[in-house]
Amino acid sequence: MDRLEIPLSRPDLSPLEEQLVLTALRSERLAMGPMTEEFERRIASLAGVAHAVAVSSGTAGLFCVLTALGLGPGDEVITTPFSFVASTNVILQVGAKPVFVDIEPVSLNIDPGLIERAITPRTRAILAVEAFGNPTHMDAYANIAARHGIPMIEDCCEALGTRHTGRPAGSFGRAGVFAFYPNKQITTGEGGVIVTDDDHLAGLCRSLRNQGRPIDPTGRQRWLSHERLGYNFRMSELQAAVGVGQMRRLATILERRNLVAKQYIDRLSAIPDLVLPTVDRDTEMSWFVFVPRLGVDYTREERDEIIDGFRAHDIGAADYFPCIHLLPFIRERLGTGPGQFPIAESISSRTIALPFHGQLTEREIELVAQTLELLLGRNTFSRR
Ligand SMILES: Cc1ncc(COP(=O)(O)O)c(C=O)c1O
Repeated sequence: MDRLEIPLSRPDLSPLEEQLVLTALRSERLAMGPMTEEFERRIASLAGVAHAVAVSSGTAGLFCVLTALGLGPGDEVITTPFSFVASTNVILQVGAKPVFVDIEPVSLNIDPGLIERAITPRTRAILAVEAFGNPTHMDAYANIAARHGIPMIEDCCEALGTRHTGRPAGSFGRAGVFAFYPNKQITTGEGGVIVTDDDHLAGLCRSLRNQGRPIDPTGRQRWLSHERLGYNFRMSELQAAVGVGQMRRLATILERRNLVAKQYIDRLSAIPDLVLPTVDRDTEMSWFVFVPRLGVDYTREERDEIIDGFRAHDIGAADYFPCIHLLPFIRERLGTGPGQFPIAESISSRTIALPFHGQLTEREIELVAQTLELLLGRNTFSRR
């Protein structure tokens, strides 16, 4: 990645994380130790669930959950075309078929009113994503899934700390998965955590992440016995140590991000060509990214020029997210194409992720806003 003057994202790391990594290193317990256990305990408590299973990435976590639920060839999984590609990739990786359902334009999550008509006798799960951390409709998806006797899996990779109707992200589905890449609310460098109240599912995920080792009644795994096809999806103690530090400082980290989002909203709300992120009254947002979009009369090319313009001014900006159903390899595999999910397509062609992290200063926010005004003004001028 380029190093820009105002980067798109930046992790919030402190001497506490450094000290905890050193403690883990000096303990010589570098895998599956007390740091991983504390990290799991803290994530389970935040999500209000019984179990948390730390894994090597969000993708690995989602793959474990789908595998543990027995999803495979012949099964259909309802999901969103407006997400990071991993939420669809894991469905393909277990051999099942992603069935996309269009989003609604406020939360940018799957439109609950469109799900029923996509359900067939082959539908085995709903894999819902909290797009940009927004948990709206998670309760609706869980209700629909329950009515059809199928699990709802919550891809809450972008939603650590978010709450909807008083319930935390990670508590809506049969299982949820958080991710900790450095652009997330908190990071472990790379990493993920599966959360669930389902004892059996949690046990299976623990086994899958650890080479298929069995779980004995005390919760310990015997080292050289293997009961099923497993994987090495373990998180190291060094990664978990970073995560423990981040979780101990979570309130401060989220508060800073919340403040930056508020400052952006205050500063940008007067720009006429911009649609700002909308947060439902029932939602306590934990901000992952800050992604406004241009008005409906802007083309994808104009949006891309604005993103390039930001970069020319040494400011990070990006087109979060390209529609998954339009990625060439997905089109080839699933026969999808333009026009199938018009809301997702229209929104995806107009979004601009702006620099967003907790250390962003008011001066930097002002600089981003002025650059956006300049680029929008230039665009208006060239249209004349
Ligand atoms: C919605 C969504 N799903 C899945 C993932 C995958 O997480 P990871 O990058 O840790 O594999 C991410 C993270 O980038 C994500 O944003």
